[in-house]
Amino acid sequence: MTVNALPRGTSGDGAIPAPVRRAEPMVWRNPHRRDAASVLAASAFSEADMRGAEARWRRFDPLLAALFAGTEDGRIDSPLMPAGPDLARTLLGDAPGSVWIKADHDLPVTGCIKARGGVYEVLAYAETLAEAAGLLRPGLSYAAFASGAFRDLFARHSVAVGSTGNLGFSVGVMGRALGFQVEVHMSHDAKAWKKQRLRQLGARVVEHPGDYGLAVAAARDTFRDRADAHFVDDEDSVDLFLGYAAAALDLQRQLAAAGIAVDAAHPLYVYLPCGVGGAPGGVTFGLTLLFGDAVRPVFVEPVAAPCMLVQLAAGLDRPVSVYELGLDNRTAADGLAVARASLLVARTVGPLIDAVVTVPDADLFHWLKVLWTGAGLRLEPSAASGFAALGRFLAEAPPTDLASATHVVWTTGGAHLPDAEFEAALARA
Ligand SMILES: Cc1ncc(COP(=O)(O)O)c(C=O)c1O
Repeated sequence: MTVNALPRGTSGDGAIPAPVRRAEPMVWRNPHRRDAASVLAASAFSEADMRGAEARWRRFDPLLAALFAGTEDGRIDSPLMPAGPDLARTLLGDAPGSVWIKADHDLPVTGCIKARGGVYEVLAYAETLAEAAGLLRPGLSYAAFASGAFRDLFARHSVAVGSTGNLGFSVGVMGRALGFQVEVHMSHDAKAWKKQRLRQLGARVVEHPGDYGLAVAAARDTFRDRADAHFVDDEDSVDLFLGYAAAALDLQRQLAAAGIAVDAAHPLYVYLPCGVGGAPGGVTFGLTLLFGDAVRPVFVEPVAAPCMLVQLAAGLDRPVSVYELGLDNRTAADGLAVARASLLVARTVGPLIDAVVTVPDADLFHWLKVLWTGAGLRLEPSAASGFAALGRFLAEAPPTDLASATHVVWTTGGAHLPDAEFEAALARA
């Protein structure tokens, strides 16, 4: 286990630490982190954008409540749960502070954080189409989107996406519920059960022998210039990013309800599993808008696919792929099996990220089992990575301001895992 020791601000390929190249776990403190105010002032996005996304979510509450059991008030949000004393002790060791779990593994509708972006972008597209068709009148309840002229309109349009699985599922569930044609392009590592569930929803699944990046590129090419279709671009979508960012308002509300202060004396460490970067990046952006420098985002990546770490270390001028370093991008954390990070995300939130921790697959299976047997949490391997990271982070690179720190581990997926998949993952611990 290693912690980087390059001078602040050093970048270029030579700044990618040797342990990363060797696929060894490491804690990378971001030497390019800057103060929140200056980063936000230069950002293309603002608090108004995040609040606009939140307002759109709320417009759709009546629709989501009508369509999906488990969202009585229409909110796609998860509980914030305290880690029990045993779990907290295991994670913190001798360090002070408290540990909470943001339970997106149990998010209504899809059981995965990617719904916050994927569902949101489908809703945004539906609203745009409805507006252009003259279907929106003042005072309309958006529950109407599920019926009549709205459905007829959506049935004449397609939504497409490239995905390792969970974004495709989120887009598929929402798109099909509104009557869209849905086409999901999937990488070789997408799990068979995820493809199967999409087909059951009536989505068209296109399988690619290549990785996630190739699946996204193929879908983008297929749907370029199609006026009757919308491509949800996991690598480059502003709507996805803002849909995720609105999650920060949910967490803010829950922290306040639990009486947890977040300020200079009470930092908030948030452990976020990272694939292409959209979900953790959007959440990071939203939390920074709300809490400024008091939030310390810690991204978590598999040792085989540390795409955000290498992008941030090498600099933001050109895209860098983990394949260039000789890494193979093969990991049991299928949602995190991404070779090249989103440049949109890296450029927007790179200077806000406190650290990136890389973890081996064995740690994911270990934590998957500990969390199931000790806390009854049903996670997929990607989603257990935050726990694997927290312990390493505190052991290897303990920050100096932990006395009144709150740690939030974001569990990003798993409740919908079929039993056989879950049993198989447990057996690998
Ligand atoms: C369970 C899970 N966690 C985390 C992520 C990471 O999200 P992103 O790819 O937007 O970084 C994914 C992506 O699919 C996922 O499926």
